[in-house]
Amino acid sequence: MILEDEEFHHLNNPADGIKPIVKKYLGTPNHAEQAGNKIFFTDGDARVEVLIVTNEIIRVRLAPHSVFLEEFSYAVPELPHAHVEFTLSENELEFRVSTPAVNCHIRKQDFFISFSDKDDHVTSADAVPMHWEENTQFGGYYVYCTKTCEQQESFFGLGDKATEFNLRGKRLKNWNTDAYSFGFNQDPLYRSIPFYISVSDNIAHGIFFDNTFKAHFDFGSEDATKTSFWADGGELQYYYIHGPHMMDVVKNYHLLTGTHPMPPLWALGYHQCRWSYYPENKVRVIANGFRKNQIPCDGIYLDIDYMDGYRCFTWSPKYFPNPKKMIADLAANGFKTVVIIDPGIRVDDNYSVFKEGKEKKYFCRRCDDYFMEGHVWPGRCQFPDFTNPEVRAWWGDLFDELVETGVAGVWNDMNEPAVFGSGTFPDDVRHQYDGYRGSHRKAHNVYGMQMVRATYEGLRKQMKNKRPFTITRAGYSGVQRYSSVWTGDNVASWEHLKLGNIQLQRLSVSGISFCGTDIGGFSGEPDGELFTRWIQMGTFSPFMRAHSAGDTKEREPWSFGEPYTSINRKFIELRYRLIPYLYSAFWEHHRYGFPILRPLVMHEQEEISNHFRQDEFTYGDKILICPVLEPGQKSRKVYLPKGTWYDFWTLEMVEGGKEVVVPTPLDIMPIFIKAGSVIPEYPVMQYTGEKEIEEVKLNIYYSDYEVNSFLFEDYGETFAYEQDIYLEKKFVVNGDAAKLTIKQSMEGLYTPRYEGYHFKINGLPFKPAKVVADGKEIGIISSNPDKTYEFKFSKNFKQIEIFK
Ligand code: GLC
Repeated sequence: MILEDEEFHHLNNPADGIKPIVKKYLGTPNHAEQAGNKIFFTDGDARVEVLIVTNEIIRVRLAPHSVFLEEFSYAVPELPHAHVEFTLSENELEFRVSTPAVNCHIRKQDFFISFSDKDDHVTSADAVPMHWEENTQFGGYYVYCTKTCEQQESFFGLGDKATEFNLRGKRLKNWNTDAYSFGFNQDPLYRSIPFYISVSDNIAHGIFFDNTFKAHFDFGSEDATKTSFWADGGELQYYYIHGPHMMDVVKNYHLLTGTHPMPPLWALGYHQCRWSYYPENKVRVIANGFRKNQIPCDGIYLDIDYMDGYRCFTWSPKYFPNPKKMIADLAANGFKTVVIIDPGIRVDDNYSVFKEGKEKKYFCRRCDDYFMEGHVWPGRCQFPDFTNPEVRAWWGDLFDELVETGVAGVWNDMNEPAVFGSGTFPDDVRHQYDGYRGSHRKAHNVYGMQMVRATYEGLRKQMKNKRPFTITRAGYSGVQRYSSVWTGDNVASWEHLKLGNIQLQRLSVSGISFCGTDIGGFSGEPDGELFTRWIQMGTFSPFMRAHSAGDTKEREPWSFGEPYTSINRKFIELRYRLIPYLYSAFWEHHRYGFPILRPLVMHEQEEISNHFRQDEFTYGDKILICPVLEPGQKSRKVYLPKGTWYDFWTLEMVEGGKEVVVPTPLDIMPIFIKAGSVIPEYPVMQYTGEKEIEEVKLNIYYSDYEVNSFLFEDYGETFAYEQDIYLEKKFVVNGDAAKLTIKQSMEGLYTPRYEGYHFKINGLPFKPAKVVADGKEIGIISSNPDKTYEFKFSKNFKQIEIFK
């Protein structure tokens, strides 16, 4: 260990101004010792642990005086079980730990740690040894890691930062913050996801800095040759995740932190929210408005005014005298009711939740044992310590009445935690932290995640085998195991539409695929054009909800009159038509760790220009979207990755690998479909499950190379899929100048109730003379003027051939 007395540091802590500190650096490693998958290195005082997690994932930990903290992580509840073959070797210059995919080098001269791939290409290298400084106030250390930054290195991830998609040149902070009406470049926001992806020289790797304290990231901002991450406490502990492709990194990050469980199918429909729809009659009027206007909708939300004096788990007797009846009537009309819950519990000895929490000592306390008190919506509040498993179980059980009343989903808000005036809790508040006690400095960033975890686990218990639906504002890595996420209090502006587009792509590559923005903007007033453009983009957000503040004008899809109402209807209907496609993309996320929204860099990371494209993304693997983000825009440029694409609206075939200009009248947003795709479609319904599905339409897009597509089907509302009760269908499309072949194979134990498929073939380069399905010739039911062809056949087909 090397001591540097009174060094003036600025690189790692400039926000605090320049202050004298004693920074300590790792010295020279003199020893390597192996214990199972762990290898320990020491300089005589400090110790470093290198853990081989899988062939692609290596974890590094630092213990300044040789004593590691006990292993515990909210993000990684369990390390993946993988058998890895690795070797430990040593030469004059370094120790080297090698798996079949990655080498980790520990340099003898100075304890620099670096990683390289199997071709010895260095992907990540320390620029200084890992270092720390003692925290004399709280104990523990400030911990730092500084790596090199290459000239053309790009950075992605970190959750929901309100800045350009590529983080190169940025310095950012993780500290969950209630950021009402946040602006471009405002940081930090509501969530903390200490995971980033680097792409350099066409090789991607990820760093997951699993540290819940206030954490900082510098991507070549202070010094263009350095990338640093550091935290105000906790352990220096990070996972190096090897690519070489960005998709591999994201999948492996999911392997560590988990994926979203399958949502109830209805949660993929359109949701309508407002602060607040009340009294009861207003809610009914809104619901009827959807049915009258024939605009599909599945979810309706109750914001804080449904409660009695903002007391969680109560109903306002004045505005909602009979919630059970109202919810039942809404359900009969196809609506699921979602209610908000906040962590602040009103201090009131006549309120059972407060009384019980107080008796059982479930509320957070300051370091000298006083209760943590703060003002939120109900006035004076205390706050459950959600890092205590007993408190989580209690909180979960509090939902029994709401579930009994018919509530189908719970919206978890203000859980950064937000406190009026001070912003959040003081640092000294104590938390039980699942037995690994700590101050609020350690628990702050996980507080919201543990709240929504308590909600989700409680609902799962109360709803028996039904899938709960939850939404949260705050979160930490791994929150996806418990909830969907929205981006918080945005603004009705074109800038926020752009920002929302970037934030959702960023959340998606940071583990949180089930995400959405407040469509229309929370504060301020959108005009009809902005609202419609936002609905268009929102049609392709995995979570689609319009929401607005209480002091704004009416904000339903029909509020702006024509032509907006019809265009909004057309897009929301499209959302519903594509539900089986979205549901299948969700399955690919849940089961295989693919993000639902995929930025262009994920399709062609070798193209440097794609590292800076942030408008276009794909929805799942097959549908490319380019939202219209400017007012009055008549046309816009869209970059299509290499391969053949179909304009969704005109069916025109376009070769990718270039930019194209697409007309964008108000009723059109650029949408392209990858050639060879099979896009499943449901009939338009006013809500999911309104009608029995009698057949599924398969839209097939001709291609002259082989392309695979998937369709996932199951009951849509139970956990039977965990017992393999589902059907995963694979379609393979391949064509030539005289024939198109479609093959189907399936896996799983579910049997859908419909009998047949309705095929629609697009882009066939010849007029079909005959169609042969499983060896039998069948007729074409429709040859359309746009040269598409339709026919029907059994859902169990194995092979269909269309001949010239
Ligand atoms: C917060 C939420 C917002 C909600 C409001 C009232 O600002 O972010 O969505 O409507 O509180 O509950």
